[in-house]
Amino acid sequence: NDFDLLVVGSANADLVIGVERRPAAGETVLGSDLAVHPGGKGANQAVAAARLGARTALLARVGDDAHGRLLLESQRAAGVDTGGVLTGGAPTGVALITVDPSGDNSIVVSPGANARLTPQDVRAAAGLLAAARVVSAQLEVPLETVAEVVRTRAAGSRFVLNPSPPGPLPADVLAACDPLVLNEHEALFMLADSDTDVDGDGPGGDGGDAGGHAEDDPEDWARELLALGARSVVVTMGARGALVAEGGPDAATVRVPSPRVDAVDTTGAGDAFTAALAWRLSLGEDLVKAAAFAVRVGAAAVTKEGAQASFPTAAEVSAL
Ligand code: RIB
Repeated sequence: NDFDLLVVGSANADLVIGVERRPAAGETVLGSDLAVHPGGKGANQAVAAARLGARTALLARVGDDAHGRLLLESQRAAGVDTGGVLTGGAPTGVALITVDPSGDNSIVVSPGANARLTPQDVRAAAGLLAAARVVSAQLEVPLETVAEVVRTRAAGSRFVLNPSPPGPLPADVLAACDPLVLNEHEALFMLADSDTDVDGDGPGGDGGDAGGHAEDDPEDWARELLALGARSVVVTMGARGALVAEGGPDAATVRVPSPRVDAVDTTGAGDAFTAALAWRLSLGEDLVKAAAFAVRVGAAAVTKEGAQASFPTAAEVSAL
């Protein structure tokens, strides 16, 4: 294979303002100076993997504009193969991001060109898909595009999905996820929104399938997501590390702790985690070991401002 990892996904210009607190509806607050960074969950994953040393390619779409050039530049600087980055059709996607003093962020994305990454674009990139051991996607590009990735990727390749922002997944996409990588918000959304009837009491019935549950136990969420059809599941839990589940709905789950760090900006930490996990899986590492590496990468990524600027090299991960 030419590539350890092909990332299919979004590329955004991140317009970031630090705030003391977020405004309520109808309220105006003053924030910090504006910072403009390359971002987007797909572009972030590609940069994170390449910086760790993965042979990485990106399939994405940007506008023919200054933000698009910023994104191409950051990919190339990290060593990502950008032959699959298409240009035009709409302005580059933009993310409006506020970061509060605890380092937490809120994000609104205007998809722009990301929404124009089509199933046809995926078919045209069949050579790229055939050349990757692991293919990783998120949901800031159209779901039908992600579904085409699942159908077009090489037999024997591994598919990793971060369902962010979360939405209902077709059964064939969910069944391909190995793993489904998601945070606690995304897990709750996926389970609450699921119309898949696991236990035969009707979609969302109260017999314990996705729609009826009220537990707040990540172990239960992971098992329910396995029961819904994912091949394996990794729940990211911020400073509490991650939870790994594989091997069917009765699977034992494994908790992977995170090193303690001072969070400055959590933007992109989940992308760095997923990229690191996908890369280690491409090397043949098992899921628990890959997650143990990925939590260290995610922890390193929260210690600096911005998304891509905060992603560590392999040497920085070892030093953590
Ligand atoms: O996951 C972080 C990313 O989400 C940001 O870079 C922003 O562009 C949004 O896609």
